[in-house]
Amino acid sequence: MLLGRESELDELERLVAGVRAGQSRALVLRGEAGVGKTALLAHLTAAAEGCRIARAAGVESEMELPFAGLHALCAPMLGRLAHLPEPQRDALNTAFGLSAGPPPDRFMVGLAVLSLLADSAEEQPLLCIVDDAQWLDRVSAQTLAFVARRLLAERVGLVFALRETGDAHVLEGLPELVIDGLAAHERRINERRTARGKFRDENVLVLWSEVVGARRRREVRRVRRTGDVDGTESIDGNVRQDLVRRAHSPAENRRRDQGCPCR
Ligand SMILES: Nc1ncnc2c1ncn2[C@@H]1O[C@H](COP(=O)(O)OP(=O)(O)OP(=O)(O)O)[C@@H](O)[C@H]1O
Ligand SMILES: [Mg+2]
Repeated sequence: MLLGRESELDELERLVAGVRAGQSRALVLRGEAGVGKTALLAHLTAAAEGCRIARAAGVESEMELPFAGLHALCAPMLGRLAHLPEPQRDALNTAFGLSAGPPPDRFMVGLAVLSLLADSAEEQPLLCIVDDAQWLDRVSAQTLAFVARRLLAERVGLVFALRETGDAHVLEGLPELVIDGLAAHERRINERRTARGKFRDENVLVLWSEVVGARRRREVRRVRRTGDVDGTESIDGNVRQDLVRRAHSPAENRRRDQGCPCR
């Protein structure tokens, strides 16, 4: 189970809801190594019910291979190439080595990827999840940034995880969510406690109760949705007892059987 991250998870859930409702969204999760970007992407995947998911991840050893990242992302959609205008289809076919020819025009490749994603999203909302974007080959990263900037109302979400390296990256300029270290956040709060565990100042108390309160609300929603009370130990005694009782009550079982999402 993820600790904290309530606001980040809320933002990702809002993104999915927007895509499901017919909007396009792009978001870069940016943060240092090990801060929890991949873990957040895993939660995004789990929250993306009803969306088709396309994935890719940058691979350090493939950084010099043009189009490698795009190929990974688009491979499951290549059956749709026939729906693209001919120049776009030709550009992707050459980029992906499906036909011979001189290196394709990059603008045409960008348009082709945009068309391909939009075509797929006509059938079902599409969420593209790209991990380790710092290791994408340059032309794939440029193309995806181009696509992200041109998405309008295609029901396509593009979410990247980008490790903070200190260098500029072509994805900069897209909407981003900076992922801070949790430890640093909680340490700052804990430093404000007295030796007896009390909070020294009212603002920190409010902040802490927000963190705990949001965590508890999320757990309550999850238990109500799934009936699974494992992993709820962090919830205070009374609330947990109430949850367990309700999770096992005939009315709750009936509600879940009828598929009420109750989120
Ligand atoms: N909020 C969290 N609560 C509990 N464990 C977490 C949380 N965030 C991350 N972790 C754990 O910390 C470890 C590192 O997280 P993760 O792999 O997601 O980092 P990352 O930002 O993707 O790092 P990298 O830049 O190396 O890819 C993993 O074992 C993950 O399960
Ligand atoms: Mg990662």
